[in-house]
Amino acid sequence: MSANSPAAVVVLAAGEGTRMKSATPKVLHEISGRSLVGHVLAAARELGPERLVVVVGHAREQVAAHVAAVDPAALTAVQEEQNGTGHAVRMALESLDGPVDGTVLVVCGDTPLLTGATLAALSRTHTADGNAVTVLTAEVPDATGYGRIVRDASGAVTGIVEHKDATEEQRAVREINSGVFAFDGRLLAEALGRVRTDNSQGEEYLPDVLGILRGDGHRVGASVAADHREIAGINNRVQLAEARAVLNARLLERAMLAGVTVVDPVSTLVDVTVEFGPDAVVHPGTQLLGATRVGEGAEVGPNTRLTDTAVGAGARVDNTVAVGAEVGEGASVGPFAYLRPGTRLGTGAKAGTYVEMKNATIGEGTKVPHLSYVGDATIGEFTNIGAASVFVNYDGESKHHTTVGSHCKTGSDNMFVAPVTIGDGAYTAAGSVITKDVPAGSLAVARGQQRNIGGWVARKRPGSAAAKAAEAAARKQVGED
Ligand code: UD1
Ligand code: CA
Repeated sequence: MSANSPAAVVVLAAGEGTRMKSATPKVLHEISGRSLVGHVLAAARELGPERLVVVVGHAREQVAAHVAAVDPAALTAVQEEQNGTGHAVRMALESLDGPVDGTVLVVCGDTPLLTGATLAALSRTHTADGNAVTVLTAEVPDATGYGRIVRDASGAVTGIVEHKDATEEQRAVREINSGVFAFDGRLLAEALGRVRTDNSQGEEYLPDVLGILRGDGHRVGASVAADHREIAGINNRVQLAEARAVLNARLLERAMLAGVTVVDPVSTLVDVTVEFGPDAVVHPGTQLLGATRVGEGAEVGPNTRLTDTAVGAGARVDNTVAVGAEVGEGASVGPFAYLRPGTRLGTGAKAGTYVEMKNATIGEGTKVPHLSYVGDATIGEFTNIGAASVFVNYDGESKHHTTVGSHCKTGSDNMFVAPVTIGDGAYTAAGSVITKDVPAGSLAVARGQQRNIGGWVARKRPGSAAAKAAEAAARKQVGED
C-alpha cells in the first residue's frame, strides 16, 4: 500500500452479459488463463486498495464463489436488480460499514486489458488535481454504444451523455467514457443519492455523478488513456477473442524484451502465469498454460502444449503435450511425447518419440527413447528402456508400481507386469514379459524358445514366391560351398 493507494476499489460485475450467449456468466469467461473479472482484480490489487468490493447480481453465487477463490480478501456486495451502474456503486458503498474517506475507484468487471499502471495514473491525476471525480476516457475509432464525454469551449469536461440519450452532435464525439472513475468517497456517496432515472433506460447512471458534482461547484476532470484498446469492454465472443490476442501479444512482448526468443508470436499462446528463464526459445504453434515455466536456454515447440509443466534449463521439448510434468535440466522430450501428471524426468533424461508417461520418476541420464508407455514407475539413473516397452500398471481393478534400478538395459518389446522390481545393472531379453522380480545383475529371459521347422515353405506353400526364393537361396548356398 502506498500514499497513492485508493481507500476502496469497486468492481462492477452484476450484469448478465446476454450478448455472450453463454451459460457461463460474462465475467467468468477466460482469456490467457484468467477470468475477465480475475484480470480486473489483479490490476486493482496492484494499487493496494484498503478495500475491494465486487458487485454481483446475475448468477451471483457462481460469480461470488469465483471471486472468493481468486481473491479471498475481496468483498462482495449484492445488487438484486440491475438498475444501472450508479445503483450498483450505491449498493457497494452501502455494503461497507461506514463511509469511505479518500479515493474510490470504480472499474467494470469486463475490461481485462486494463492495467494497474493505468489505474495508478488515473488515481495520481485525481489526487494531484484535487478533483471530486476524474473519469478515464479514450479516443476510439468507433464510439457507438459508449457514453460520450461532453466538454465546453475551454475544453473542460462538463458531463457524460449515454449513446442512447445523445444528440446527433454529441454522437459525433469520439472521446468516450471508459467506465473507470476515481471519486472522492464522501462526495460520491452523497451525489449517488441524487442520481435520477429520467433517461432512456430508466436506470441510475454512474456517469451522472460527474455532472452533479460539477453543478455543486466541485472540480471534475478527465484522464485520457494512452491506448484505447486497454479500456475495451467485452460484450461478445468476437471481442473476447480480440482481447485475448491483444493480451497475448502484450505478454509475449514482455517476455521477448526480457530475453526470450519467440519465433512466431502469432501462433504462440501463453497464460499470464507462465514464466521464462533468459534465452528460452519458443517455436511456432506452442501453447504454454497455467503455472508452466520454461527454464534458461530451454527450447520448446514447435506444436507443443505444456500445462503446469516445469522445463529445466537447456532442456528440449518438441511436438509434445505435457500436463503437470517436470522436465529436468538438459532433458529431451519428443518429438511426439505425452507427459501426464506426476512425470518427473531427471537431468539429461529422455522421453522420446511416441512415448507416454504418467506418475513416473525417471532418473538422471535414463532414456526411454521409442514407442513406450511408462505408468506408475520409478526408474533409476543411466538406464535404457528398450523400444516398444509397456509398464503394465493396471490389472483391471487397481494400479501397481514398477521399480527399475540404475544402469539397467531392458530389451525391446518388454512388458513389465506390475508390481515388479528390476535390480540395478540387470538386463532383460527382448520380447520378455517380466512378471517376477529380476535380481541385480541378472539377465531375465521371459519368452517362448524359438523353433525352426525346416522345409516348411516348400511343403506347405509349393510354387509360391516364398518357395522360389527359398530354392534360389538353397542353390546359391550349394554353389558357394
Ligand atoms: C457504461 C457507461 C458508459 C460507458 C461504458 C463503458 C453507464 C450508464 N454507462 O455503459 O458511459 O461508455 O460503460 O464500457 O454507466 N453493471 C452492474 N449493475 C448494473 C448495470 C451494470 O453491475 O445495474 C455492470 C455491468 O456488469 C458491467 C458494467 O457495470 O460490468 C457496465 O455496464 P454496461 O451495461 O455494460 O454499461 P454500458 O451500457 O456499456
Ligand atoms: Ca447497459
